[in-house]
Amino acid sequence: MELTLDSIVPQHAEFLSQIELDKTQQEYIGGLDNYCNVQSGELILMVKLDDTPIGAMKLDFEYSSTYCFATTNEIGLRGVMIDRKFQGRGYGLEAILQLRQFVSKYYKNYTAICLTVNHNNTQAYRCYLKAGFVDINKDYNGGALGPQRIMRLEI
Ligand SMILES: CC(C)(COP(=O)(O)OP(=O)(O)OC[C@H]1O[C@@H](n2cnc3c(N)ncnc32)[C@H](O)[C@@H]1OP(=O)(O)O)[C@@H](O)C(=O)NCCC(=O)NCCS
Repeated sequence: MELTLDSIVPQHAEFLSQIELDKTQQEYIGGLDNYCNVQSGELILMVKLDDTPIGAMKLDFEYSSTYCFATTNEIGLRGVMIDRKFQGRGYGLEAILQLRQFVSKYYKNYTAICLTVNHNNTQAYRCYLKAGFVDINKDYNGGALGPQRIMRLEI
């Protein structure tokens, strides 16, 4: 089984309707219904296992215009998700490791990937740590579900 990432324009993101998450997990990514409402400067990546879409994530190239802790040469990572049937098998970790290679290959002007993760979202936090993200030990308090940790992965 091979895991790959594919860039998808929002108009071709029908695959998202196949991705299932528990209700609480949906809240962590801001709701599945809104997932395709990407802003300019955002890119959706589909996570595929062979030919089966099993997840997605979004890159935000204008992250620093929303989050003051990020600089203009840092890409934002949002909406990381793996279908609940495929979670806990190492695919989330593998997808983020591949993302790092993807960014360093195609976006050479960027020096890091930044994200925020809710304090209660242990599964995602541990996955990010394992992928090499560093917790900068400062909180972002603008999230609807309470404080979030800020994490950064140098490329
Ligand atoms: C976060 C997410 C993408 C991780 O994907 P995943 O495929 O489940 O993660 P992996 O199997 O690659 O696990 C990587 C690490 O995460 C941690 N992890 C995985 N499942 C876990 C669980 N049920 N509880 C606690 N930690 C867990 C472990 O540290 C694991 O390392 P290990 O294999 O040595 O135990 C996935 O759980 C998900 O889609 N969550 C819902 C959406 C979400 O919250 N997104 C993040 C928004 S910031």
